[in-house]
Amino acid sequence: ATVTFSEDNSRVRAELPTGESVEVLLYGATVISWKDASGDEKLWLSDAAKLDGSRAVRGGIPVVFPVFSTAPDHPQTKDLPQHGFARTSRWEFLGKSTSESLVGKAANEPTVKLDFGLSSAAPGLDPKASAHWPFKFNLIYSVTLNQRSLTTSIVAANDDSAPFDCQVLMHTYLRVKDITNVEITGLASAPYFDKVDSANPHKTQPAEPAAATITGETDRVYTPAGDVTVAEGGVPRYRVTRENFGNVVVWNPWADKARAIPDFEPKHGFRNMLCVEPGAVAGWQSVESGDAFEGAQTITLLD
Ligand code: BG6
Repeated sequence: ATVTFSEDNSRVRAELPTGESVEVLLYGATVISWKDASGDEKLWLSDAAKLDGSRAVRGGIPVVFPVFSTAPDHPQTKDLPQHGFARTSRWEFLGKSTSESLVGKAANEPTVKLDFGLSSAAPGLDPKASAHWPFKFNLIYSVTLNQRSLTTSIVAANDDSAPFDCQVLMHTYLRVKDITNVEITGLASAPYFDKVDSANPHKTQPAEPAAATITGETDRVYTPAGDVTVAEGGVPRYRVTRENFGNVVVWNPWADKARAIPDFEPKHGFRNMLCVEPGAVAGWQSVESGDAFEGAQTITLLD
């Protein structure tokens, strides 16, 4: 695999010998592109996304840590910005591993893993972190590209003498051809928290139909039992599997909300994206001193 830095050192790109590629912006360690061998893009990235470090990237896969949304009632994180500071900090590139060095991979199966780090002592840390979240921590984020899948995994270590609470989520913007043809399986019978129905947020997805569709603004924190699969027009496209992530946020802003988000372009782009966001965001992960929280998602291409 070849790994190259952009001229301005803002991003790193890895390409397998078979042509698949992934591109990661050091700002937020945000995956901003994932292409298959034919060059077909799998992630949605807003045309107005800021890639210069002036704000969190609208699209790709931003990393959410240590708070999902905002948590005004949670003393440790109440003053942090929405979705925390991992997505607004500049991470360090720690290096790559390729199929030759990855244990357990057959030599004929190309793969590349890129590692990124962010700690409480990092020069690129968003100042809001040190101001509002005083813990010593160390994050390692790994992006592994295989021919038919992408895995992103995180280790959030507590280097402090006190325990801390955190929430972790991978805010994946999947690219779809037409949201009105999307069917999501794996959510049937799952409990969820409906963020667009504040009067009555605690719900359960019906057992039937087996596939959920998106017909308007959707912002739900699901607790599904297993994998979530995204199909379009009856053709399975993405399978999302999780390790140690109990939740999956399903988000689509739809027309009105997209219009209200300044860096969401084109405005009709909501038709071409679906956020399927694995994470641990219902309640808190308490990480003891010297301990770590680990979680991962794998997105497998099915079409
Ligand atoms: C989702 C949240 O994960 O992220 C939504 O559930 C939120 O409520 C969306 O609107 C986008 O957040 P942001 O901060 O990137 O605009």
